[in-house]
Amino acid sequence: MDLEKIANEIRGGRRVVALTGAGISSAAGIPTFRGKNGLWERIDPEKFSLGFFKEKPEEWWSIAKNLFSPFIVARPTRAHYALSELERLGHLEAVITQNIDGLHQLAGSRNVIELHGNVMKLKCILCGMEYNLNDYIDDLNDDRLPICKRCGRVLKTGAVLFGEEIPKREYLLSIYYASVSDVMLVIGTSLEVEPAATLPSYALRNGARIIYINRDVSGVKDKGFIIVEGDSEIILPEIVKNIRGD
Ligand code: APR
Repeated sequence: MDLEKIANEIRGGRRVVALTGAGISSAAGIPTFRGKNGLWERIDPEKFSLGFFKEKPEEWWSIAKNLFSPFIVARPTRAHYALSELERLGHLEAVITQNIDGLHQLAGSRNVIELHGNVMKLKCILCGMEYNLNDYIDDLNDDRLPICKRCGRVLKTGAVLFGEEIPKREYLLSIYYASVSDVMLVIGTSLEVEPAATLPSYALRNGARIIYINRDVSGVKDKGFIIVEGDSEIILPEIVKNIRGD
């Protein structure tokens, strides 16, 4: 389908939501998880788990701080800015993201639901205190563990780890927005991980059109999606230009 028609679908939508994954941040230098050079090819996902963090916090943090370094320097991509512009123009109500990089908010998106948390925060699993990762960069660079200022426990990343519950509020909000949407933009995600993978079916049940934007569309041929094969860095700015009538 050409981008003019995609732009008309979005312009005609009353409640448009976006569901994003690692692909939208790949141009920011943040590696995707699967596929060529995927993170899980290099790091055992088992080590990115709550159990491993609790058992071996030192080893966990020595792996995590290298993993997180691209996130700390990353800046929003053209695709992130395109989605925040769509929201500003009144054509996008919410961004549901699986990403933990906070780049949607940095690009100006205001209604962002972070299903998998945010790596730029740190959390104490004992007393619940939250901190900014940036306040602990020196500790991590000097191989000191980040410690809770209130109760002294080793802090956990604000990203949701394997074996950890998805935050309830974000989970319920993501289902709400998917269920009321009449257009869902599914951008840069392999739809391999729950609960995100099921969100398009909530939208379809509401009669929504699903616009699937991905470099690799081999896995979604028969799902009733409107498929747009290509780079979100090119496709999304083009769609916004169309909608703005540039
Ligand atoms: N434009 C469009 N699509 C892209 C681009 C791009 N520039 N670059 C990569 N992609 C697509 C890939 O084809 C792939 O389908 O982005 C998708 C990335 O898939 P994954 O690496 O599986 O990332 P994601 O779907 O976000 O993973 C979901 O899995 O491991 C967990 O918590 C982790 O949030 C993550 C979740």
